[in-house]
Amino acid sequence: MTHSDQPSPLQARSGGALTGRVRVPGDKSISHRALILGALAVGETRISGLLEGADVLNTAKAMQALGARVERHGANGAAVWSVHGVGVAGFAPPDAPLDFGNSGTGCRLVMGAVAGCPIVATFDGDASLRSRPMRRVLDPLELMGARVGDAQEGGRLPLTLKGARDPLPILYRTPVASAQIKSAVLLAGLSAPGVTTVIETEASRDHTELMLKHFGAVITSLREGSHGRRIALAGQPELHGAEVVVPADPSSAAFPIVAALIVEGSDLVLTDVMTNPLRTGLFTTLREMGGSIEESEVRGDAGEPMAQFRVRASKLRGVEVPPERAPSMIDEYLVLAVAASFAEGTTIMRGLQELRVKESDRLEATAAMLRVNGVKVEIAGDDLIVEGRGHVPGGGLVATHMDHRIAMSALVMGLASDKPVTVDDTAFIATSFPTFIPMMRGLGAEFS
Ligand code: S3P
Repeated sequence: MTHSDQPSPLQARSGGALTGRVRVPGDKSISHRALILGALAVGETRISGLLEGADVLNTAKAMQALGARVERHGANGAAVWSVHGVGVAGFAPPDAPLDFGNSGTGCRLVMGAVAGCPIVATFDGDASLRSRPMRRVLDPLELMGARVGDAQEGGRLPLTLKGARDPLPILYRTPVASAQIKSAVLLAGLSAPGVTTVIETEASRDHTELMLKHFGAVITSLREGSHGRRIALAGQPELHGAEVVVPADPSSAAFPIVAALIVEGSDLVLTDVMTNPLRTGLFTTLREMGGSIEESEVRGDAGEPMAQFRVRASKLRGVEVPPERAPSMIDEYLVLAVAASFAEGTTIMRGLQELRVKESDRLEATAAMLRVNGVKVEIAGDDLIVEGRGHVPGGGLVATHMDHRIAMSALVMGLASDKPVTVDDTAFIATSFPTFIPMMRGLGAEFS
């Protein structure tokens, strides 16, 4: 990513209401997938609204290094990306290690795609990504015939992956609800003969399934148990290049939405927000807390629904968030904890064990962010309990731990706290929401 060695601290303070109308950048999950499927398709894929954040740009570079032609056309703000793919199983060996920077999604999905090609590639990333578990993806890929060499302890990066010459289709039960594991298996399964099946006991985001269908694969998804899915992909399809319109990222929209709820007098409109039900747990929760979030202009594109959101400042109350909602809001607990701090009463968020293996240990980091700003918070097993008192003292310096969402959540907190909140480094915001600071300033946020 393009950050210097010098950290860039920033302070957020409370000021006037937040008002205006914005479109946050394109969805990160869909952006990665559009580039990867474009690279595995025959013919041209055209992508508009691609998130031009560092994480996605690293995936674009990896696709280029693996033999696809990836080009950006048009002006800033209206760029269209085109990908000329190499076909299923057609990746070429890269000349140099593939560097995924901060991105677990880019790295794990591309591991799946490489596992189904007869090539060797080295995977690497920054210090945060090097500390994250990769065994969860490597285990099923090895069952399919891929081989791992030179991994660090616990299968961590940097590591070398040798793809299978004749990949095997498998039936795999994911040990945790993870779209990254599911997607890696499905992407490897593209090159296997026969049917690759993934069973998940809790449904995770289904963008890979929807987009594979859009590119011409035969894939089915059936309910399994009370919250799960059984996904079956017919191997060796001919994927054809497609048009992809990337809707605005609900995980990025989460920051201005929570900011508008907690800053008095605010009234914001966010356009084109993706409303795939496997991503909208935060909005459900904020509404249960009393948040005024109205949806209109509901429409769909390539299987992904979207809507316009109007958000107005609201009095929030504490709620209990059930563990089965976690996969549909897994990236949103940090900013939900901020909303919970401004609510009246206790918010209990259950079943957050997966937060420990994100860009940072987000369970500890969330508790630390709240504590340093005078909010009473407790971690009980895998649950997070926040005592909301209707206002937040603030005044804290928040450590971002190379985690974009900690930085943005802390800055949102500072927009309504009694005293300003400072973050030690804003550089990593560029991984997912490079326009966050100017966009929030444009809505009235006071950052200095
Ligand atoms: C993602 C899946 C989630 C999420 C990540 C994006 C994806 O991770 O946290 O930011 O695009 O598949 P897990 O699938 O590991 O929970």
